[in-house]
Amino acid sequence: MVKIPLFDMTRQYLKIQREIMEAIDNVLSSGRVILGENVRSLEEELSEFIGVKYGIGVANGSDALLIALRALGVKEEDYVITTPYTFFATASCIVRLGATPIFVDIDPDTYNINLRTVENILEGKIRVKVNDKTVSPKKIKAIIPVHLFGQTVDLEKLENLKRKYGLKILEDAAQSIGSMWIYDDGSMRKSGSVGDASIVSFFPTKNLGAYGDGGMIFTDNEEIADTCRMLRTHGAKQKYFHEVVGYNSRLDELQAAILRIKFKYLDEYTRKRIEIARNYSKLFETEGLSKIVRLPNFFDDQRHVYHQYVVEFENETVREHVRGKLLKEGIGCAVYYPLPLHLQRCFRNLGYKEGDLPNSERASKTTLALPIFPELEFEEQKMVVSTIADALKSLNS
Ligand SMILES: Cc1ncc(COP(=O)(O)O)c(C=O)c1O
Repeated sequence: MVKIPLFDMTRQYLKIQREIMEAIDNVLSSGRVILGENVRSLEEELSEFIGVKYGIGVANGSDALLIALRALGVKEEDYVITTPYTFFATASCIVRLGATPIFVDIDPDTYNINLRTVENILEGKIRVKVNDKTVSPKKIKAIIPVHLFGQTVDLEKLENLKRKYGLKILEDAAQSIGSMWIYDDGSMRKSGSVGDASIVSFFPTKNLGAYGDGGMIFTDNEEIADTCRMLRTHGAKQKYFHEVVGYNSRLDELQAAILRIKFKYLDEYTRKRIEIARNYSKLFETEGLSKIVRLPNFFDDQRHVYHQYVVEFENETVREHVRGKLLKEGIGCAVYYPLPLHLQRCFRNLGYKEGDLPNSERASKTTLALPIFPELEFEEQKMVVSTIADALKSLNS
C-alpha cells in the first residue's frame, strides 16, 4: 500500500475543486472548446510571467520542443547540442527533424549540461565525433539546455554563448517554471526568457500541471511566434490553406482554463516546494546523513523551484537498497533517469558507448528522487528520511 506517494494530484485538487469545476463549466457553457479565450489569456499571462512577448499553447511539452526547434530553422544536416541526462523528448525532437544530437556531459553538482564543455566544443578545443564523423563547430546550429529538476543552468553564461557564437538556443524549461538566475550585476532572469525560444510542459506532475497533457512555447521574436502558431495548426496561416506540412498540436481549452486557476497559486506552490526541500536537507543533517547522502545544492545566485528533490548515494548498490526499502514501506521514489540518452538503443547509430559521458552515467546509477509536492506534510518527510536512515544502517550492520 502506498503511504506516501511520490506525487499526489488529488490533495491539491480537493483544495481548489470548486474553482476548477466552475472554470470547466464556463468553458463547456461557452461552447468554445478549441483555441478559445482561455488559451489566449493563458498565453498572455504566462509569457508576461516568464518575461517574453509571446506564448504559444500546444498539445504537450514534446510537441513544443519539436515545433520550436523547427521554427528556429533546425533541419537535416544540422547538429544540435544537448544533455543526455534528461527526458527523452529533449533529444527526440532533434532526430524527428532529421538533425543529429551531440550529447554533452553534465556538471555533477547540478546535473545540468556543462556549459564550459559546450564552449570548448564551439571553440574547436574539444573535437566531437558523432556517427564516426568529426563535427565541424560551424555545423552546430543550436543548443537545447535543460533546467533539470527545477534548477536553471547559468543563464548569464548561456546568454554569452548565444552572443559569442550566434547559435540558436532553445531552453527546455519543462521542469523549471518560475526558476531564476541572478546575474553578476544583480539583475534577475527567469528560465525560459534567455533563449531564442523556450518551452514548458504542463504534464500533470509538473510544477504547473494540467489534468491531462499540455505545453507552451515562449519567444520574444514575432516571426518565430508566427511560425509556431502556423505549425500547431497543420502549417496553415489561413484555415485550409497550408504553407508547410505542420501538426495538429493545440493546447486544449479546458486544460488552459484549469491551468489559469492553478497559475494563481503557482508562487505559493513554489514557496512550499522550496520549504519542503529545505526541510529535507535539515532532516538529513539531523539524522547525521548529510555527508553520506549527497543533497541538492542551495546556490545563492539562483532560485531552484524543486520540481524534484533528488539525492545521491555512493553507488548503485546502495541506491537500489534504499529504493527497495522505501518502496517496501509504501514510500514513493523514482530514478530520473535510469539510462542516459546517449546509451539508448534508438540512438545506437550515433556511435556513443559506455564511459563516454561518465557524469551522466554515474548519476543514472546513483540518484533517487524523493516525494515532493506542495501538499506534502512535514511528518511524511520525517518518515521518508528516517526510512532512508534505517535502510543505510541495515546496509552497514
Ligand atoms: C525535461 C523535459 N523535457 C520535455 C518533456 C516533455 O513534456 P511532455 O511530457 O509534456 O510532452 C518533459 C516532461 O515530461 C521533461 O521533463
